[in-house]
Amino acid sequence: MRLSGKVAVITGAGNGMGRSTALLFAREGAAVVIGDVDMAGGQSAVAEIEAAGGRATFLRCDVSKEADVAALVAAAEQRYGKLDTIFNNAGIEQPVTPSDQVTEELFDRVIGINLKGTFFGCKHAIPALLRNGGGTIVNNSSVSAFANVGGNISYASSKGAVMSMTRVLAIEYARRNIRVNAINPGVIDTDMNRRNAKLAADPAAVEEKWRAITPLGRMGTGDEIAQTVLYLASDQSSFVTGIGLLIDGGRVAT
Ligand SMILES: NC(=O)c1ccc[n+]([C@@H]2O[C@H](COP(=O)([O-])OP(=O)(O)OC[C@H]3O[C@@H](n4cnc5c(N)ncnc54)[C@H](O)[C@@H]3O)[C@@H](O)[C@H]2O)c1
Repeated sequence: MRLSGKVAVITGAGNGMGRSTALLFAREGAAVVIGDVDMAGGQSAVAEIEAAGGRATFLRCDVSKEADVAALVAAAEQRYGKLDTIFNNAGIEQPVTPSDQVTEELFDRVIGINLKGTFFGCKHAIPALLRNGGGTIVNNSSVSAFANVGGNISYASSKGAVMSMTRVLAIEYARRNIRVNAINPGVIDTDMNRRNAKLAADPAAVEEKWRAITPLGRMGTGDEIAQTVLYLASDQSSFVTGIGLLIDGGRVAT
């Protein structure tokens, strides 16, 4: 087991790739603290982990609220004695909108969750990781930090900034045994994309376009993301810090 005895915090783990990662981390021996705004999703993730013999706790947490994120990290130390790793995963999409029609409210909302939420996760995890003698941070950026099709300016801006944040923190804390990396998923089969597709006049055409821009010709799965997060969170990646790991089915190679 690659996370035996470890304690992990995962935001946005009620659904999608966060949930897949929480389930995998628990199977690999970690106690998992799940934070999400979706109470039902978070509670059912805990139930699924416990039914499989794992350890997990859910706290309602809106990552755009600093106090919520501080409480989430504190819960890991209070309930399980320490923190070894955090996956800052919670995020929202921007409904496809021409950039000159994006309102300040929409821009702030996406940045508040995707970027500020990731910052809060890093900020509050770092002191706990230092108390632990070190650990790992994995931030969920996106392929959109590198490749875009337009109509998602707040989302792509937030994910590009998450890459910069990842590099800053990797350098700042490298000598104190904290490794900080990001993942850059391509199009992954989760509710986020299903919601986005449904907004279009022809959802099937949107999904076909996603397959067409992906050399492997399909969407990725939450499990495929979870495996890469496990790699970056665990000792398997002990000489890796400050990177963004593309899991994009070859998209950026085009
Ligand atoms: N799906 C993709 O193709 C894709 C690609 C690249 C990156 N990502 C990123 O992956 C991450 C997970 O996305 P997903 O596809 O699994 O989406 P999802 O919608 O299936 O899951 C996201 C989870 O985050 C939670 N969440 C939303 N706002 C929150 C908040 N303010 N505080 C706490 N939790 C919140 C949701 O309730 C949900 O459980 C996001 O950061 C997303 O931007 C997704």
